Amino acid sequence: MSKISDRLNRLSYSQTFVMSNKARDMKAAGIDVISLTLGEPDFDVPQKIKQAAFDAINENYSHYSPVPGFLELRQAISAKLKRDNDLDYKPTQICVSNGAKQSIINVLLAIINDGDEVILPAPYWVSYDEMVKVVGGTSVFIETSIDTEFKITAEQLEKAITPKTKALLYSSPCNPSGSYYTREELEAIANVMAKHPDITIISDEIYEFINYGGEHVSIASFPQVYEQTAVINGMSKAFAMTGWRIGYSACPTWLASACDKVQGQMTSGANTVAQRASIAALQMDPSELQYMITEFEKRRDLVFELMKDIKGFKCNLPKSAFYFFPDISYYLGKTLNGTEIKNADDFAMFLLENAHVGCVGGVSFGSPECIRFSYAASEEELKEAMRRIKDCLDQF
Ligand SMILES: Cc1ncc(COP(=O)(O)O)c(C=O)c1O
Repeated sequence: MSKISDRLNRLSYSQTFVMSNKARDMKAAGIDVISLTLGEPDFDVPQKIKQAAFDAINENYSHYSPVPGFLELRQAISAKLKRDNDLDYKPTQICVSNGAKQSIINVLLAIINDGDEVILPAPYWVSYDEMVKVVGGTSVFIETSIDTEFKITAEQLEKAITPKTKALLYSSPCNPSGSYYTREELEAIANVMAKHPDITIISDEIYEFINYGGEHVSIASFPQVYEQTAVINGMSKAFAMTGWRIGYSACPTWLASACDKVQGQMTSGANTVAQRASIAALQMDPSELQYMITEFEKRRDLVFELMKDIKGFKCNLPKSAFYFFPDISYYLGKTLNGTEIKNADDFAMFLLENAHVGCVGGVSFGSPECIRFSYAASEEELKEAMRRIKDCLDQF
C-alpha cells in the first residue's frame, strides 16, 4: 500500500521544474547550458516597491494580517480593477493570497466536487490540470492549434459543456501560447457562458500588463457573466515580484467568502511586508512599467526572426506574455542522434542534451506537438540559444 495518498499519487511533478532542475544540474556539472524554461521576469523589483517593503518592516508590519489581506491593499486592488479593467469590486469581494496560484486553488477548492468537470482550453498552464485533479475534478480539454493562435471558439466551448461542467479555467494572455483573447472573442465566450450561470469562469489575467499593444479585456467586464466570474491576478509578472508571493482573486461575494474560508484554514493572510509593498506597486502608473514591456517586445521580435531560420519550427508571433510555443510536429516520429522523438517532451530533452538549451515540452500543457521557450532572458542568451538550436537541427 502506498504511504502517499491517492490524491497526491494522481499529481505529476511540474514539467517546467523537471526541465529547469535538469538544466541546473547540467550547469552545476560544468556544462554551459542556456535555460529558457522558467516564466519569470529577469528584471529587478522597482525601487518604490522595495522602499515600501523597507518601510513596512520599520513600521512593524510583523503580525498576522486579516485572512483576505489588509483592507488598504484590497482597496488598492479595487481601484486598480476599476482603473485598468473597468470592473467594480468592493474590498469584501477580494481575497489576497500567496500568489495567483493559491488564488486559483482556493476557487477550485471552493466549488469543485468529486467528478465535476472543468473545461481547460489547450494549451493550458501546467498547474491547472494538476490542481483540478487534486480537488477531485475532471479536466475536459478543448483542442486548438497554432493555426488559430491556440484560441478556442464559442462553438467549441458550447460543445464541451455537459451537465457536469462546473468551471471554465483559462489564462488570457496565455501561458504557454502568448496569445490573448480580443474583446469580440471574449464576448462570444461570455454569451455562451451566460446561458450556463451555474458554471464559474476562472479568468487568469496574471500576464495582463505584458501585452504588446493589444487591449487587455477581462471577461468579467461583460455584465452577463460578472456574477459567475472569478478574476485572478497578482504581482508576480507585471512587477517582477515572483518571489514576493502576492496574488489575488476578485469574485462574487459568495465565492469571495468561500475563498476566505479556505484560506483561513490553510495558510491565513499572505506575507504582511509583501502586502504593504504591493499597495505601492498597484498605485504606480502602469506607464512606469513600460520599460520592461518594451524590452520584452524587443526580445520577442529578435527571437521571432531567428526562429524563422530553424528547420522544422512552425511559429506564430505571440502578442503577449513572454513565451514562444512553436509547433515541432516535423520532428515527431524521427530518430535524432539515436533518440526517438515520440512527443515534444522527448524533443525538449533532446535539445537540452544536444544543443544545451533548456525549454519545456508541451505534453503537460496539453499540446504534445509544441515546445515552450520563455524569452525572459538577455538578448545575448537568446541569440546564442537560437544559434545553438539551429546548428544542432541543421545536422538532421
Ligand atoms: C498563467 C499563470 N497563472 C498563474 C501563475 C502563478 O502566478 P503566481 O506567481 O502569482 O502564483 C503563473 C506563473 O507562471 C502563470 O503562468
